[in-house]
Amino acid sequence: MRTDTGRIIHLADYRPTDFVLERVDLTFELDPTETKVEARLIFHRREGVDPAAPLVLDGDDLTMTSLLFDQIEMAPERYTATPESLTIRDLPESTPFEITVTTLINPEANTQLMGLYRSNGVYCTQCEAEGFRRITYFPDRPDVLAVYTVNIIADKAANPLLLSNGNFLGGAGYGPDKHFAAWFDPHPKPSYLFALVAGDLGVVEDTFTTMSGREVALKIYVEHGKEPRAAYAMDALKRSMKWDEEVFGREYDLDIFMIVAVSDFNMGAMENKGLNIFNDKYVLADPETATDQDYANIEAIIAHEYFHNWTGNRITCRDWFQLCLKEGLTVYRDHEFSADQRSRPVKRIAEVRHLRSEQFPEDAGPLAHPVRPTAYREINNFYTTTVYEKGSEVTRMIATILGRDGFKKGMDLYFERHDGEAATVEDFVKSFEDANGRDLKQFSLWYNQAGTPQITVSSSYDAAAKTLTLSLEQMIPATPGQTHKEPMHIPLRFALIGANGDEQNPSSVTGGEVTGDVLHLTERSQTFVFSGIASRPVISLNRSFSAPVTLHFAQATEDLALIARFESDLFSRWQALTDLALPNLTAAAAAAGKGDPVSCDKGLLDALLAIAADDSLEPAFRAQALTLPSESDIARELGANNDPDAIHAGRQAILKEIATAGAATFEALYKGLASDSAYSPDAASAGRRALRNCALGYLALSENAPGTAAAAFARADNMTDLSQALTVLAHRFPDAPETHAALAAFEKRFSSNALVLDKWFQIQATIPGEGALDRVMRLMQNPHFVASNPNRVRALIGTFAFGNPTGFNRADGRAYTFFAEQVLAIDKRNPQLAARLLTALRSWRLLEPGRADHAREALMTIERSGSLSNDVRDIVDRTLK
Ligand code: PHE
Ligand code: ZN
Repeated sequence: MRTDTGRIIHLADYRPTDFVLERVDLTFELDPTETKVEARLIFHRREGVDPAAPLVLDGDDLTMTSLLFDQIEMAPERYTATPESLTIRDLPESTPFEITVTTLINPEANTQLMGLYRSNGVYCTQCEAEGFRRITYFPDRPDVLAVYTVNIIADKAANPLLLSNGNFLGGAGYGPDKHFAAWFDPHPKPSYLFALVAGDLGVVEDTFTTMSGREVALKIYVEHGKEPRAAYAMDALKRSMKWDEEVFGREYDLDIFMIVAVSDFNMGAMENKGLNIFNDKYVLADPETATDQDYANIEAIIAHEYFHNWTGNRITCRDWFQLCLKEGLTVYRDHEFSADQRSRPVKRIAEVRHLRSEQFPEDAGPLAHPVRPTAYREINNFYTTTVYEKGSEVTRMIATILGRDGFKKGMDLYFERHDGEAATVEDFVKSFEDANGRDLKQFSLWYNQAGTPQITVSSSYDAAAKTLTLSLEQMIPATPGQTHKEPMHIPLRFALIGANGDEQNPSSVTGGEVTGDVLHLTERSQTFVFSGIASRPVISLNRSFSAPVTLHFAQATEDLALIARFESDLFSRWQALTDLALPNLTAAAAAAGKGDPVSCDKGLLDALLAIAADDSLEPAFRAQALTLPSESDIARELGANNDPDAIHAGRQAILKEIATAGAATFEALYKGLASDSAYSPDAASAGRRALRNCALGYLALSENAPGTAAAAFARADNMTDLSQALTVLAHRFPDAPETHAALAAFEKRFSSNALVLDKWFQIQATIPGEGALDRVMRLMQNPHFVASNPNRVRALIGTFAFGNPTGFNRADGRAYTFFAEQVLAIDKRNPQLAARLLTALRSWRLLEPGRADHAREALMTIERSGSLSNDVRDIVDRTLK
């Protein structure tokens, strides 16, 4: 385990390597506990580098068994090998030379799941960010690109399948029980994109003909018997390949594209060149075992990893500070893909919900960092929602500022200039500047300044002059290491809506740049005056969430109601409902905290019920509209001194009132949307299920017995309906015999399906209230709780910490104590997983003082522990700072 070194890496210290790596030849002799890795590396000294400079290679927990220089054993005085590095001296001044290193590694004992490990008997690798150094000594950094040949030798019976990146060269028998295979990847790549898989797996095969007419073999490998569950992933892959050709002009570049699904994986999936490795949760689906959300996730992640082939692999990152260059851009691409495949506004609403609930708290707390950080202690901790999701929003803003064609021109120039290179954020931005002749210097602050911009808005209408004045002021909060902020370039889409719902177009605008429906806020405070406005309009600002900011705009309830009713931008309609609901929910929390009665605002209630019954609106949108801001949204709105029990009680009271007032509407929806046709995962069908299950949730709230939900559970013929019915039962009627029976039936029916059991754990981990902690502790004793499986740990402990505000934030602090113990235990086997879980405490300072004290105490327990990984040490230090 990499323990804490205290070493901080700075962007400003970047310099290229002293030696250039020309070629890599790897030979693996696979063995569960003693795998031999021979790496032949050809280097030459970079021009101008000190002839005395040694070659320093990275390692992590390595054991070297031999070292050759140009095929001859190296004299011990010429090198120093430790588990963490290999330093070689007295090397040629300019001629190429060959280093052959042999290391011995133990895949079976690799519980960190970084480097080469075994998952359910399958050998697989994970090398991003710094896993390759756990396989062999190497210049393990993304700006070292080389062509790889890989030979794999393994026991034939146990491992009929031997895979690596690129194209298959050939294979043959090797001794009595073994065989080997050779792979060659012609595309130079950094080590983090290396992959190897060996084992016995089933396969689903297909082909794709690229736009230039080349046929590509597509293969998805899964455990035997699970092949039918890979059909949807294959379909999503083909749609992704086509979309990237049509929308970005990007064609696939090898003869074969492979995906392997494994059950133990730290993240979602990995874009290794030609050989993506996936958490099987994002590959396997069928109606009986996967929900609509699972299907949508599979589609998005298959696309995401495929899109990396160009944004990440063909053009990679110069250093890990540039991570958003591949991740933010690729998330933007997968968001656009899903928007094109499904309902764009509904997808946008889901993205914004996710951004606000995950990224905004990160940006407002102790772990805040710029989209492109300038320093890190552990790179694993920077695979964050800021780098990914805010990074995507920043890319989206470039598209908003430059327009569709301007964005396309910039992307084309970026591909043209940097194909085959390791690039920087500056290279990326420059491509857009040069292709469009537009200065993006101020815009680039989005990469460098952390914190969610807060924009205060006010407006006035002058009926005599027929002008509308709109004043905006931006404030970017201080974040760790950044106290002073410069004003940013914030593109805000807007509409001026008349009383009858028509959009009004001004005859002219002064005060700043306005292009089409985009208003460019660039000053700290700026006043725009719109002329030729016949009557007082309602302002719809930040349409489609064009900028990832928070608006403070005290709009009248009637104005919000008008937007909720008339805006042609569905996102903004949803936003207006949210803006109507939030003050009501925060007031409800305050009232509930004091034991006062809570009531739902009439305007909100009417708006919600009108939307519920409006058949002209797509069901998926109506389901989103009826899903009120979450408890964490309310907590964020309250800002500080949070009492999760009061927030929960207040919100539940409002929901109950809506449920009671709308009982007839919800019943009609529930019955009317019943489907008798076969399950289809398409977005429209999923939307109908979402609305129906949303109605079920409200129905159960207005009823005092679990009858309707129990019947829904009994009748469900797909996992979406089944898991939703079980959630409603468990959350609304946790102690009812019907609930116990349903939970037991579900566990029994799916006892051999790990992904479905994860849902069973999740549903129970999120049951609110007092009993939650004891329930979670009990579930840890369940024979299905497998501590070595990251999905299972996340399903139970992660879901409890991130998704059960009342249960986790018990007033007595017992859940924090439990959580700290779990984090410490998990850290021993899988630091990356432990560190990620620990971020659940990042907003501890916003809790009311009693809970905050308990949370700090738990964090201090971790802090004081003697043997932390670098990963957990980094998070706990920053969280307490
Ligand atoms: N690069 C992967 C992705 O986003 C994520 C990942 C990072 C996976 C690190 C594993 C380890 O597509
Ligand atoms: Zn990615």
